Amino acid sequence: MLSHLLRMHGIDSIVLESRSRDYVEDRVRAGVLEHATVELLCRYGLGERLKKIGLEHDGIWVSFGGIRHFIDMKKLTAGKCITVYGQHEVIRDLIKARLDAGGEIVFEVEDLSVGDLASAAPKVRYRRHGAAHEVICDFIAGCDGFHGVSRRSIPDGVLDFYERIYPFAWLGVLADAAPSSDQLVYTYHDRGFALFSMRSPKVTRLYLQVDPEEDIANWPDRRIWEELRIRMTTRDGWSPSVGPVTQKSITPMRSFVSEPMQYGNLFLAGDAAHIVPPTGAKGMNLAVADVAVLARALCEFYAEHGRRVLLDQYSETCLQRVWKVQRFSWWMTSLLHRDPRESPFDRRRRLAELDYFVASRAAMTTLAENYVGLPLEGMLTYT
Ligand code: PHB
Repeated sequence: MLSHLLRMHGIDSIVLESRSRDYVEDRVRAGVLEHATVELLCRYGLGERLKKIGLEHDGIWVSFGGIRHFIDMKKLTAGKCITVYGQHEVIRDLIKARLDAGGEIVFEVEDLSVGDLASAAPKVRYRRHGAAHEVICDFIAGCDGFHGVSRRSIPDGVLDFYERIYPFAWLGVLADAAPSSDQLVYTYHDRGFALFSMRSPKVTRLYLQVDPEEDIANWPDRRIWEELRIRMTTRDGWSPSVGPVTQKSITPMRSFVSEPMQYGNLFLAGDAAHIVPPTGAKGMNLAVADVAVLARALCEFYAEHGRRVLLDQYSETCLQRVWKVQRFSWWMTSLLHRDPRESPFDRRRRLAELDYFVASRAAMTTLAENYVGLPLEGMLTYT
C-alpha cells in the first residue's frame, strides 16, 4: 500500500517480501475494511474489484442471552459503514497495481537484514535463490509484521514496549457454507465468545474463543459445529449455516505497542509496531492508516527539498490513533469474552454492561464510530 501511494506521488520504492506471490494472495487473514480505508483505496484507483465483490455492511449484531441486537452503524454515524473484503483480496489488487505500473516487488527473499539506520543511506541486505543483494536507499519502511527484523534491529534502549496478553485465543474456521446472516454476529456466551463473519456469498468465516494452550487436533469439525451451535443459536432459531471446513487455525490474542515507531531513517508500520486483538477488526486498517501518514511525510520530504517536519512527527501522529484503537479493541475484547479468571461479580457486571449497551443510543454510537473507523487525520490526501 505504501509503495502504491508513493508511486502515485512520483516516489520510487522496492518491496521485499519473504513469501511467494501465491502465498500472500491466497492466505486468508482479516476481512473488515473501515469506511476511510475503503475511501483511500478507491481514491487511489484500487476500488474496482472492491466495489464489485466487497460486501457493504450497515451494522453488526451483538448477541447474548439468546437474543440478537442490531447495531445500526450507518444510522448512528450519519451514513458510514464497513466493507467485508478479504485482506488477501486487497493484497491481490495492490500487487497487480504495482506490477502493472512497472513497480518492483521481490518475492521469496531470505536472510533479510537492515543496517546503517541512523545514516542518510540505510541499507537492506537479503539473499534470493542463493545470491546476495544489497539495496541502499533513503528510507526503510519496516512493514514486516510482529516477528519481522525491523523492530528488532533498533538498538536496545530506544524503544518502550507496552503489552497485554489475554487468557484466551481464537479458533478460526473457514467453511464452504452460504452465510446465514447478511451481517456479522458477535456473541457473548458463558462458554466463551463466538463470531460469525463471511468472505463471500458462499463462504462463512467463524471464530470461537478457546484456551491459548488449546491444540487444534482436539477440535474435529464435528466438535467445532456443536460448540458454535451451542454458543450462537438464538431464541428465534438463528444459527450459522453448516458446510465443509476448508481451513482452521488457532491464533493467540495480544495487545502490543512499541514506541516510538521510528529510528533514524527506519519507520515501523502495522504489526511491526503494534498488535491489536482481532475483536475490533482493526489490524489491517491501522496498518493502512500508518502508511497513509508515512506516505504524506515522505511526499513532503521529496517535494520540499528534504523538509522533515512530518517525518519527525510520524510516530507521534500515528500513536494518537494507535492508542485510541488499542483502547477500543481492548474494550470490545473484554466485553465479549469470558475471562477464566473473572469473579462472579465481574461476570454480572459484564452482563449489566451488555444490557446497558444495547439499550443506550450513546453507548451504541460509541461502538459504531470506532467500528466504522475514526477519521483519518494527518493523512495523505491525493489531489
Ligand atoms: C473476519 O471476518 O475475519 C473478522 C471479522 C470481524 C472481526 C474479526 C475478524 O472482528
